[in-house]
Order: sequence, then structure tokens, then C-alpha cells
Amino acid sequence: MHNVEEQLVFKRGLKIKNRVIMAPMTTKMSFFDGEITSDEIKYYTLRSGEVGGVITAAANVSENGKGWKGELGVYDDKFIPGLSRLSAAIKKNGTKAILQIFHAGRMTDSTIINGEMPVSASNISSERPNSETPRPLSSLEILDILDDFKQATIRAIKAGFDGVEIHGANTYLIQQFFSPHSNRREDEWGGSVEKRFKFINDLVEVVTDVVDDSEVDNFIVAIDSRLKNMKIRE
Ligand SMILES: Cc1cc2nc3c(=O)[nH]c(=O)nc-3n(C[C@H](O)[C@H](O)[C@H](O)COP(=O)(O)O)c2cc1C
Repeated sequence: MHNVEEQLVFKRGLKIKNRVIMAPMTTKMSFFDGEITSDEIKYYTLRSGEVGGVITAAANVSENGKGWKGELGVYDDKFIPGLSRLSAAIKKNGTKAILQIFHAGRMTDSTIINGEMPVSASNISSERPNSETPRPLSSLEILDILDDFKQATIRAIKAGFDGVEIHGANTYLIQQFFSPHSNRREDEWGGSVEKRFKFINDLVEVVTDVVDDSEVDNFIVAIDSRLKNMKIRE
């Protein structure tokens, strides 16, 4: 049993000063376009410094991946200055700053994404009340979204974060590719469990490759994949 105050040392040398990490929690405090607000900076400033690390609220990597109003954006270079203020606020006293990177897929609606139809693996709506039917992503669009995660990681590095966490959890795009309920594709991205896993697999590869090719040492790549809501039928 480890004491929570004990330093956490990873195989490649990364050190986290204790074993308390603040979980990602959406606050809906950003501006309409995803730009960070001073209130949000204040919120994180008040909570960092003591904990070993802070994982930010989900930040959308593509414009059509925004899930709700007030969400943090990382889909454009214009966010780098604001995100730099955020990482600096978190990193005081050695706390590690980890940006959560995210795509909502079908778990959004057209009022949030400028009147466009939500996108997903297939045209299957979620079983929640009033959910819109998404349109299936083309193969090229899937590659674009993988690239959006890559660009978001580059922006996180430029903005001074110590890591990114891929939001692979409960109901959002990554899970939508894995679940046979939302993924009815018959191409290389759907069908068998291996094919439905391809999106997660390629995504982790794209993100870890760009980190390996960068100048940063000990950059954290985490993936959050709470499986409890997945509808696994095989
Ligand atoms: C208000 C609120 C916002 C949350 N936002 C996110 C989020 O942006 N990303 C995420 O991965 N999880 C999010 N979560 C889930 C939490 O990170 C955490 O996993 C969940 O609350 C389970 O932990 P608990 O049992 O200690 O509450 C959120 C939870 C709450 C209560």
C-alpha cells in the first residue's frame, strides 16, 4: 500500500509529486467559441498546487466534436495563448497539467455545432430522449478526426501542458466506434470487435507518435476508458 503523499515515479522517469489527481470535470465556463475565460483560470488556480496533477475538463479537438455550450476548445491554433494561461495556472508548485482531448460524436445536437448534423460511426441515434440521428463519417473524415487529435496534442505541447488525456469514455465518439450499438459499419472501421477497436488503436498510435517525434520529455499520454456504459453484445 502506498501513502498518497508518496511520489509516483514512472518507468521512463516521469515523476508526479503525490498520488492525488483531480479528475476531469466539465465546468461549462468557456466562451461561446471555446476560448478560456478568466473565471475558468481562477477555478483551476484555486484547485492546483497541492495535488499531483489536474486533468482539465474535456476540450473538443474538432469544431463538430463540441458536446455542450461552454466547452473548452482545442480545435484551432487560436486557442494556444489561452491554453498556455491555463497550463501555467495549473503548474504552480509542481502540479502536472493534463489537457483532456475529446470528440462528442453523436452526443451533441445541431444547435451546439452551428446547425450541422452530428457525426458518428453510423447513423444510429443514442437511446437518450430527443437525441438527433447522426450522419456516418466518411473514411476521409475519420482520418481527419484522427488528425484533429494529433493537432490538439501538438497544441497541448505548445501551450506547455505536461500531458493529454484521450477521453475514451462513456458514450462519446471513441466509445461510439467501439460499441456495436452505435457502430454498424461494414468497412475497416466496423464489424468484428477488432475492427471496432481500430479507431481507438489508431488514435492512440497517432497521439503517441506525435509525442515521440516532439521535443518534450516525459509527456503524459493517458486514455480514459470507463467501459461500464458500453453495450457489448458479443
Ligand atoms: C460535473 C462533472 C463533470 C464531469 N466532466 C467530465 C469530463 O469533462 N471528462 C471526463 O472524462 N469525466 C468527467 N466527469 C467524470 C469524472 O471525472 C469522474 O470520473 C466521475 O465523476 C466518477 O468519479 P466519482 O465517483 O469520484 O464521482 C465529470 C463528472 C462530474 C461530476
